[in-house]
Amino acid sequence: MQATSAKAVLGSPAHLPDAQKRREARFAPVALPNLAWTPEVARETAHLYEKVKAIIPPIEWPFHAPYVKAINELKKQRNAVILAHNYQTPEIYNCVADVVGDSLQLARIAEQSEADVIVQGGVHFMAETSKILSPDKTVLIPDSQAGCSLAASITGEDVRALKRKYPGVPVVAYVNTSADVKAEVDICCTSSNAVKIVESLGVDTVIMVPDRFLAANVARQTKVKIIAWHGACEVHERFTPEELLGYREAEPGIELIAHPECPPEVVDVCDFSGSTAAMIDYVKTRRPKKVLLVTECSMADNVAAETPGVDFIRPCNLCPHMKRITLPKILDSLVYMREEVVIDPALAARARRSVERMIAVK
Ligand code: 13P
Ligand code: SF4
Repeated sequence: MQATSAKAVLGSPAHLPDAQKRREARFAPVALPNLAWTPEVARETAHLYEKVKAIIPPIEWPFHAPYVKAINELKKQRNAVILAHNYQTPEIYNCVADVVGDSLQLARIAEQSEADVIVQGGVHFMAETSKILSPDKTVLIPDSQAGCSLAASITGEDVRALKRKYPGVPVVAYVNTSADVKAEVDICCTSSNAVKIVESLGVDTVIMVPDRFLAANVARQTKVKIIAWHGACEVHERFTPEELLGYREAEPGIELIAHPECPPEVVDVCDFSGSTAAMIDYVKTRRPKKVLLVTECSMADNVAAETPGVDFIRPCNLCPHMKRITLPKILDSLVYMREEVVIDPALAARARRSVERMIAVK
């Protein structure tokens, strides 16, 4: 009798450690939201439709709006934030994301956010980066199959082999890598800080993994010798100079701006190259009459919504991994608290060193 009551007392919420109580509260079941298109949904989402009306036809909005409303309500209930990469679709980017940005901006926010839960609007390596930087938060990825051809091109064992082959040469990993790879390298970089990171090491040779094109583009901007891995982004490697020169001829006055994951010969025929955030800044500040963003094509939709008057010419190279993230899957994530990103704490601590070293470079 005594044993039974002692067990009941020990299991009661007041006796659970704080972290466990918080986790139980985070994962508490919630009712399935009603996803009907009603006048109330229309009214409550009207201000969000204003942001996307140039790119989402009125006939499509009734499909998105009930999800938008349900996700925004559930975010508050779960004390969750949605961190969305610039390649997410317009309804995610404009209507449910709390923060949007390039890989570096999202990593910084993941570290600073006070939310209990992060839902990553992006691919798996981004969710891992958030978890590495916020080990106490619950990090959810709406589709764990959202990969990346760059991250898939290299493993931690490959990095160890490189270090054996080139002893003493520091290894810089693009953030588009798994936690396993980040744990093995000296420092991370993104497309917006790669040159600065390479030069911050104060050496004459570095190994850069996994993107051979980013490495080649960086090599042209520094005296540091770069030994590159052979990975490539399946979206950016498809652009060719011939295709872009064709647009130049067909669209007089067009400005071409490229992501540095493009081959160097593609960057060569462009007017500017930079990370997704730098490309967005370029369009917002220079307001070219006509522009082609040589990158994943949802970004043009997102920037177009914010820059009326700029004419976007759009070859459409979609990232199939980024497109796995949808409003219904984000809602499922928040309702069922799935799919949780889990990283072995010892591995995460080693990976964190490389990411934090990067963030510390000003
Ligand atoms: P950035 O947003 O850091 O430029 O990266 C682009 C990219 O390909 C992410 O998958
Ligand atoms: Fe990876 Fe390229 Fe997709 Fe970015 S766009 S997630 S680099 S495959």
